[in-house]
Amino acid sequence: MTAERVRVGLEGRAYDIVVGKDVLAGAGREIAALTKSRRAFVVTDENVARRHLERLRAPLGEAGIESAVAILPPGEATKSFAMLEHLTGLMLDAELERGDFVIALGGGVIGDLAGFAAGILKRGIDYVQIPTTLLAQVDSSVGGKTAIDVAQGKNLIGLFHQPRLVLADTGVLDSLPPREMRAGYAEVLKYGLIEDAAFAEWVAANAQAILTKPGSERREAIVACCRMKARVVEADEREAGRRALLNLGHTFAHGIEAAAGYSGRVLHGEAVSVGCGLAFELSERLGLCEAGTAAQVRGWYAAAGLPARLSDLPDLGATPEEFITHMAQDKKAQAGQIVFVLARGIGKAFIARDVDAQIVEHMLTEALSDRPNSKAKA
Ligand SMILES: NC(=O)c1ccc[n+]([C@@H]2O[C@H](COP(=O)([O-])OP(=O)(O)OC[C@H]3O[C@@H](n4cnc5c(N)ncnc54)[C@H](O)[C@@H]3O)[C@@H](O)[C@H]2O)c1
Ligand SMILES: [Zn+2]
Repeated sequence: MTAERVRVGLEGRAYDIVVGKDVLAGAGREIAALTKSRRAFVVTDENVARRHLERLRAPLGEAGIESAVAILPPGEATKSFAMLEHLTGLMLDAELERGDFVIALGGGVIGDLAGFAAGILKRGIDYVQIPTTLLAQVDSSVGGKTAIDVAQGKNLIGLFHQPRLVLADTGVLDSLPPREMRAGYAEVLKYGLIEDAAFAEWVAANAQAILTKPGSERREAIVACCRMKARVVEADEREAGRRALLNLGHTFAHGIEAAAGYSGRVLHGEAVSVGCGLAFELSERLGLCEAGTAAQVRGWYAAAGLPARLSDLPDLGATPEEFITHMAQDKKAQAGQIVFVLARGIGKAFIARDVDAQIVEHMLTEALSDRPNSKAKA
């Protein structure tokens, strides 16, 4: 099947995102074209290594690229200072030099950690993203944000370090657990909700194909998301403005994830699904978009098997005030004001800095009282 290329046109640091089935087989050729070095350092996790590491190492070897490998434990806890120290130590032991490549083979956890490690090793060496989750293919592997988590919060220590290449193999997603696949789908639909109503409708109509088949619908969806993200990153690499639109649903999502203690009880994409529903509901309540828009959005998410309302999630035991406190700690909060992405309709999102916290609290109180025995009822 043919691969498609999307260019991220950053001056002096432009790179391609290659999307298609079996693009992994061309990894050696693609990487060899970027450097004279024939050494690479692959970072991956145990789940991905078991299924896909050899599918990468074989083509690297064929292109004459020798690769050292670090296989890390899977899960968010890997994005830690301790693991960063461990990983950079392994990279130094392998005598990685400028000109050599780090290759991040995995989901957003591996991409964020390996990209950060590459960004600080010897003041920065190049890296390639080979995202293996749908979320990483449409979001985290593109745009150069890298980070680890600390006690104070998620993604608070990190840097912008653009990859030199992104290889998104739509076939590797076949081994991804369906729940992780749906979580990535939440972000796919989000792109349409932000700026392209026709795309949102197309995604919703093709949800099953995107979720279950490595065919052209999945590739088209990933390519479209990468195009949108590339354009946003080109316009606003460091999130001074427009890039924040990509956070549609994310202020609420961060509140949900924090209330769940980042425990895996709620996946990021599941929180985004609920968060997008809440963002449209808030927009409706503020008279910004037509009645029924939030129901439309929630219907699309629910049809793909995602939680669409707070009451669809396990009981997180948080009060509306606690949610708001968590939301205010989001790093996008500015001068104490929570920043929301709201919408004037599907595909018409914008950034709002002056939302009345009382309206939000009122909405969350109602949303939480959907649930029997919730604290909000007391
Ligand atoms: N840098 C950014 O711009 C950005 C954007 C969004 C999210 N993120 C970060 O991404 C992370 C979440 O990424 P994620 O959802 O990819 O999670 P993840 O990396 O934890 O992967 C999810 C699970 O799937 C497994 N897995 C990965 N690929 C697989 C495959 N092909 N087959 C079978 N199992 C596979 C992993 O081992 C893991 O258990 C978060 O830390 C988040 O902060 C970063
Ligand atoms: Zn997200």
